[in-house]
Amino acid sequence: MIRLPRGTQDILPGQSEKWQYIESTFIDICRRFNYQEIRTPIFEHTELFQRGVGDTTDIVQKEMYTFEDRGNRSLTLRPEGTASVVRAFVQNKLYGSAKQPQKLFYNGPMFRYERPQQGRMRQFVQLGVEALGSKDPAIDAEVIALAMTFYQSLGLQSLKLVINSLGDKESRENHRQALVEHFNPYRAELCSDCQTRLDQNPLRVLDCKKDRDHHAMVDAPKILDYLTEEARLYFEDLKAYLDASGIDYEVDSNLVRGLDYYNHTAFEIMSAAEGFGAITTLSGGGRYNGLVEDLDGPATPGIGFALSVERLLMALENEGVTLPVNEGLDVYVVSLGDIAKVPAYTLTQQLRKSGLSVDKDYLGRKMKAQFKDADRNEAKFVVVLGEEEVNLKQAAVKDMTTGEQEMVAFDTVVNHIQSKR
Ligand code: HAM
Repeated sequence: MIRLPRGTQDILPGQSEKWQYIESTFIDICRRFNYQEIRTPIFEHTELFQRGVGDTTDIVQKEMYTFEDRGNRSLTLRPEGTASVVRAFVQNKLYGSAKQPQKLFYNGPMFRYERPQQGRMRQFVQLGVEALGSKDPAIDAEVIALAMTFYQSLGLQSLKLVINSLGDKESRENHRQALVEHFNPYRAELCSDCQTRLDQNPLRVLDCKKDRDHHAMVDAPKILDYLTEEARLYFEDLKAYLDASGIDYEVDSNLVRGLDYYNHTAFEIMSAAEGFGAITTLSGGGRYNGLVEDLDGPATPGIGFALSVERLLMALENEGVTLPVNEGLDVYVVSLGDIAKVPAYTLTQQLRKSGLSVDKDYLGRKMKAQFKDADRNEAKFVVVLGEEEVNLKQAAVKDMTTGEQEMVAFDTVVNHIQSKR
């Protein structure tokens, strides 16, 4: 037997309805916030992520599904959506559109070669948004509000929003120098990854899982102490918008995201519910004012976030939230005897044409077994067609909720059921 690859999953009937519900809720929230869908390819030139996500990140160094195609091009299954959206924004000159800022959302599979565990898959589905073309802190607050509104409308209650500012270029440069000076005396005690990080991207040291408990971490220089006046004011404005809209948050100066393109706002939304697994981050995002330029477009500010459906489902389950799905069939058509076969088939089609969800037996089952099948499908009505009914040009319609049964003229069955729904 061939099994699915590690870190992937089949989403079977019973589960897929939840995915559809989540996706359609996300689309609805995006519509309310005026974000429009963008669909980009699942694979891109490897260089896009090297330059976009950043050469020194774990994603690029360790986690990409990179392959050569038959034309010897290096391609990569996208590990995230932002770089692709920005590429599409530049390539399709969306910066020239009359609609500004460009507010985009996406929904699709992402791929990272990570060690699989609960909430960490090698193929996972991200729902995300990107707003390109505005550096108003109100839009940072809007993106956060969109994420929170989405989670809350699904019924999640225990959420924690954590925010930080990663400052502008100057703030980061000052912070970077302070980090190098702070950690250099302990260089030999740090893990080999951190020794490299110290040279390439010292901010990443703060995010290290291995060295998390090293004593030098405790009093490491905090980015918030190195913000320029402009960056500080930007962060203050964001907080004012969040306060004004009643969104609670925690400031964590150690929140550094795993991707290189961020500046100013960075945020993550965690599950604060008890009993949630080791990975509590449900979504993350932030501002990336230099990325469009890095990918050869005109200087354009941007902000966005992404969440994964897998972690969302874990959070829903942990909080005991059941989504309103699996509503069952409207009608099940039971037929008895050869004479009823064709009329039952055509009635099924007519009922479907009227918009109802309808099914019938295809296994030649006896009446009792057909009723059982109707139950399994949670049918609200059962229509019975036997020899007598066909001769009388009637059908027996049973309301499965009340148990009432009526004889109805064959050509009024559709209207009859529609009027009783
Ligand atoms: P990220 O933090 O790498 O950011 O991923 C965002 C979310 O994707 C995570 O919070 C998590 O819910 C989910 N996720 C990541 N890796 C996995 C995995 N292996 N299995 C399951 N879920 C996972 C980004 O991807 C940025 N592009 C977000 C962004 C958009 N920033 C600005 N715009």
